[in-house]
Amino acid sequence: RFAAVIFDLDGVITDTARYHYLAWKRLAESQGVHFDEAFNEHLKGIDRMGSLELILASATRRYSDAEKLALATEKNEHYKELIATMTPSDLLPGAVAALDDCRAAGLKIGLASVSRNAFTVLDRLGITGKFDYVVDAGTIAKGKPDPEIFLKAARELRVTPDACFGVEDAVAGVSSIKAAGMYAVGVGDPQVLAAADIVIPDLTQFRLEQYK
Ligand code: G6P
Ligand code: MG
Repeated sequence: RFAAVIFDLDGVITDTARYHYLAWKRLAESQGVHFDEAFNEHLKGIDRMGSLELILASATRRYSDAEKLALATEKNEHYKELIATMTPSDLLPGAVAALDDCRAAGLKIGLASVSRNAFTVLDRLGITGKFDYVVDAGTIAKGKPDPEIFLKAARELRVTPDACFGVEDAVAGVSSIKAAGMYAVGVGDPQVLAAADIVIPDLTQFRLEQYK
């Protein structure tokens, strides 16, 4: 029934969600803001400036736009240091098999990450060639949970949204897929990702024939 699959990157294909967490934690604590895994859950799938705003909402003072930009850049520099050492061994278990199963089934394959580092990460993982289309996050006006990024991927893959399914680890990402009118496969905790149509713990449990 599906003609295309659209994957998220961070936390689905590779564990960069961990690197985003570490980089935001250092940034938050430098500003006296407490930062833990529970708070980080709200940041998954949220774009860079949006994430910073959520963190600074707990700070004791206000920040100018210039200060915000400097802090976002500082976080990104730290993040870039963390991803610079990535190799294909950082692919999560089951990721390549899931992509190859989709390819073998004749599906078009897209990537919808709001990360401006997505091209670098795909390159370091050695899987750029496995995608028919990768959304350039710089062209997206509204990040997840808005459906824009998944709709753009579908349009560029020349398929209708109802013929697509999305694969996501973030609450905001699942909302984005559902708002786009697509079937959602959640990767992670079924309680956290309750809005998904089906939830699997990780991509080793990816079973194309079960998604309908
Ligand atoms: C993904 C991650 C977020 C991150 C966002 C922007 O959606 O899940 O944690 O904030 O990308 O990433 P960037 O690399 O552009 O800062
Ligand atoms: Mg993600």
